[in-house]
Amino acid sequence: MFQQLLLMELDDIQLASQEQFARQSGRYGKGHVLENVADIAAAVRHLSLPDVADILDVATGGGHTGIYFAGLGHRVTLADIAEPMLAKAKALAQEKGFTVSTSQHSAEEMPHATGSFDLVTCRVAPHHFSSPEDFVRESARVLRPGGLFLLIDGTVEDDQPEAEEWSHQVEKLRDPSHHRLITPNRWRSLCGQAGLEIVHCELTPFKQPDLEWYFETAATPVENRRRVIELVEQAPESARRLFRIGNEDGKIVWWWQRLALVARKSGHPESG
Ligand SMILES: C[S@@+](CC[C@H](N)C(=O)[O-])C[C@H]1O[C@@H](n2cnc3c(N)ncnc32)[C@H](O)[C@@H]1O
Repeated sequence: MFQQLLLMELDDIQLASQEQFARQSGRYGKGHVLENVADIAAAVRHLSLPDVADILDVATGGGHTGIYFAGLGHRVTLADIAEPMLAKAKALAQEKGFTVSTSQHSAEEMPHATGSFDLVTCRVAPHHFSSPEDFVRESARVLRPGGLFLLIDGTVEDDQPEAEEWSHQVEKLRDPSHHRLITPNRWRSLCGQAGLEIVHCELTPFKQPDLEWYFETAATPVENRRRVIELVEQAPESARRLFRIGNEDGKIVWWWQRLALVARKSGHPESG
């Protein structure tokens, strides 16, 4: 086990995330919606891994993804830009009886040797990254030949610019460390540029938890909450339709779109 100190220089977007998630780290463990790992369990069907794989979970947050794989018997490194997140994720893993390593670094620059991992995972975090290009390129670099990349994140389906802009405005107000949702085609293109071949790509709807809970999780300022509600009330038809915006028992609800993508680095495992 090791703790890599964060020596790289961070840009403003990375610093905003680091600050936001260090402050809110207590909210992402038990009881958070991300504790439900049904999306990862579904994606695992598309992964073929060695019995004991080396796995890097980038932007681990509460650690739910990495801990899921540790529970399958793999050797897992949890990585995040915010140290308090790592400390809490590691404590949760220990509480569940798993040993994990931790490494503090950004998704855009990884202090790991080329070809170190069988699987790189990243779930519900890339929309915070300042450079998704660097993230995918680094993920591909640290993978062994034949290694797998599993990405799960919010998205907006291709060719829906109005709905995409609406979701961007909502997320930015709710959590200023949000940067940009990336469309499936853009992810495909980034993977292609990094030498990763798409194995599986699927969009599934994910129900927006109670809006108040969602605000609390990000400590959304009162004025921003008011503006989000205004945006919901004035949402364009394209966003209403795509996100199924509605009202249940007096509560605002909608369904985000979540992308699960699996890609493979070219080459054969034995050639690494
Ligand atoms: C919503 S949480 C991730 C959830 C987690 N992956 C899971 O499956 O439960 C987002 C995490 O991304 C991290 N993060 C944001 N920007 C980052 C960056 N550029 N590099 C590394 N981590 C980053 C934050 O510190 C935070 O812990």
